[in-house]
Amino acid sequence: MKTNLIELEAQLAQLSAAGGLALLAELFPGKVTFSTSLGQEDQVITQLIASQNLPIQIFSLDTGRLFPETLELLARTEAKYKTKIKVYYPETASVENLVDTIGINGFYESVENRKSCCFVRKVEPLRRALAGNEIWVTGLRAEQSANRSAMKRLEWDDSNQIWKYNPLLDWSFDEVLTYLENHKIPYNPLHDKGFVSIGCAPCTRAISSGEDARAGRWWWEDSKKECGLHSSKQ
Ligand code: ADX
Ligand code: SF4
Repeated sequence: MKTNLIELEAQLAQLSAAGGLALLAELFPGKVTFSTSLGQEDQVITQLIASQNLPIQIFSLDTGRLFPETLELLARTEAKYKTKIKVYYPETASVENLVDTIGINGFYESVENRKSCCFVRKVEPLRRALAGNEIWVTGLRAEQSANRSAMKRLEWDDSNQIWKYNPLLDWSFDEVLTYLENHKIPYNPLHDKGFVSIGCAPCTRAISSGEDARAGRWWWEDSKKECGLHSSKQ
C-alpha cells in the first residue's frame, strides 16, 4: 500500500462512509472496486459512489441462479444512476462440469456440494473481478452475524489478497433503511415480502420476525452461513 496503513485506518475512522470512499478513490485511482449484490446495504453504497461521481468500478456476480427481481433491480439501478454495473459470470465449462457432477440442485444434498456450487458460481468469478485492484469495497455490516462482528472497516482479505473496505460496517439496519427511504433509492421488492439477506433464489427464503437476518440463507444447513466470498474467521 502506498500510504501507511495505520495512518490510513486512523483517517478512515474519522470519516463517514461517503468520505472514506472518496478518500480511497483519490489514493488508489482506478484500483478501487465495489461488489454489489443489489442488497439494501449495497444500494446505499451505490448511491454514495454515484452521487459523488467517484471513479470506483461497480460490479456484480450473476451466478445464473439469482432472482429475476434482483436482475431487474440491476437494470433499474443502472438507469437511475446512469452508470454501468459490470456483470461477471461463472465459467461455462465449470458450471457444466458442476451440474454433471452434483446435479442441477445438488447443493441441497451436502455442504460440500453447496460449497462447490458457490465456488464455481461466485468465488472464482469474484477473483477475476478483483484482479488488478487494490481495494475491494463491500456492504458487510457487523450486526449481520458473529463472523461479521469481528471484521474491521479496513482489513486484509487473505483469500483474495486484497484490502477490503466495509464502509457500512458500523451502520445499524435502521440506518440503512432510513437512508434508502430519505434518498428514494430503488430496492429489491422481495424485501417487502420478508426477504432480508438475498442471494441465489434456490438458497434464499423469507424470514419471520425475530429470526436472525441471515436465517433465510442456506436455511437447511447448520453451518456458518458464509459462501466463501467472505472468509469466516471462526
Ligand atoms: S454472501 O457472502 O452471504 O453471499 P451477502 O449477501 O451477505 O454475502 O453480501 C455481503 C456483501 O458481499 C455484499 O455487500 C456485496 O459486497 C458482496 N456480494 C454478495 N453477493 C454478491 C454478488 N452476487 N455480487 C457481487 N457482490 C456480492
Ligand atoms: Fe449455488 Fe446456492 Fe451458492 Fe448460489 S448460493 S452459488 S445456487 S449453492
